[in-house]
Amino acid sequence: MSDTPRPIVLSGIQPSGRLTLGNYLGAIKNWVPLSASYDCYYMLVDLHAITVRQDPAVLRERAFEFLALYIACGLDPARNVLFVQSHVPAHARLAWVLNCYTQMGELNRMTQFKDKSAKHVDNINAGLYSYPVLMAADILLYQAKAVPVGDDQKQHLELTRDIAQRFNNLYGPVFTVPEPMIPPVGARIMGLQEPTKKMSKSDDAETNALYLLDSPDVIVRKLKRAVTDTGNEVRYDINEKPGVANLMSILSATSGESFDSIVDRYNGQGYGKFKQAVADAVVACLEPVQAKYNELRSNDDYLRGVLRDGAARASAKADATLKRVHDALGFIPE
Ligand code: TYM
Repeated sequence: MSDTPRPIVLSGIQPSGRLTLGNYLGAIKNWVPLSASYDCYYMLVDLHAITVRQDPAVLRERAFEFLALYIACGLDPARNVLFVQSHVPAHARLAWVLNCYTQMGELNRMTQFKDKSAKHVDNINAGLYSYPVLMAADILLYQAKAVPVGDDQKQHLELTRDIAQRFNNLYGPVFTVPEPMIPPVGARIMGLQEPTKKMSKSDDAETNALYLLDSPDVIVRKLKRAVTDTGNEVRYDINEKPGVANLMSILSATSGESFDSIVDRYNGQGYGKFKQAVADAVVACLEPVQAKYNELRSNDDYLRGVLRDGAARASAKADATLKRVHDALGFIPE
């Protein structure tokens, strides 16, 4: 990372469930080229993950798995700060402060909270409710200018901007007001079996999601069974043909081919050839990631070293912002 100040990018993923092609196309893939022009911070948000009950052994395993996948996807730890949220205490500390600058009315409007509380009726905890405030803290601590995420995080980003502006109006320019960075294709990959709902890490139905560690056979099988419709028209129409539109997005985002070219090539030929092309593109995209992952995953010492280094670099930046916040609020300097 160079010494001249560059704009900052930050993003994160919850180390729960298994990483999906949606996480890759909506987020990680777009993070990789950014280190050429930004200082990049990418987290595993374990504090967010515990808003839903996690098995401790599985959570730990997932965090290492996801870190190895970050690197296997092309995030070089020498060019990106890779760290675990709980290793940087400033996240929880700023989240508390920002809780006092967030209205319950704002949190009541968050659709992710509504969805998650409907799914986990026996555990609608306060952490789940104030989840977006912790996310705002994540972003504002690093003075991030841009936050590369999938479409589902847009509402959280808007809240983050509102909190930052509110705080700045009261105390002066303490925070950079961040912008979402949402990819034109791949920002909302839908389920293969339920193409009207987003593909999710925590999906119960194994065949609904493509996971980054799925073998080529499994990828081909899942895509062959993907829900389309009874026609044979390949065209992009989210309302009338959500299954086909989703497969077109996957093909375009993994191969770089435009929608027009996909239509020219596959329209009117039945879905078999089209689905095979989607499967080939996904396999070609994931094979090098899986090969690199297999090299890295067993190297625990290396992964722990990456996290130690990442936590130190992240803390330096985060602590500086927290100090500015505490000064602005009138807390006695430590
Ligand atoms: P999470 O863990 O649910 O998802 C991680 C990233 O993957 C994107 N994504 C998708 N993109 C396209 N299609 C899909 N089906 C799909 N599913 C997920 C998400 O938009 C996200 O970019 N709250 C965040 C984590 C977070 C965060 C942050 C992100 C915590 N703090 C600070 C940015 C900045 C979340 O739950 O993501």
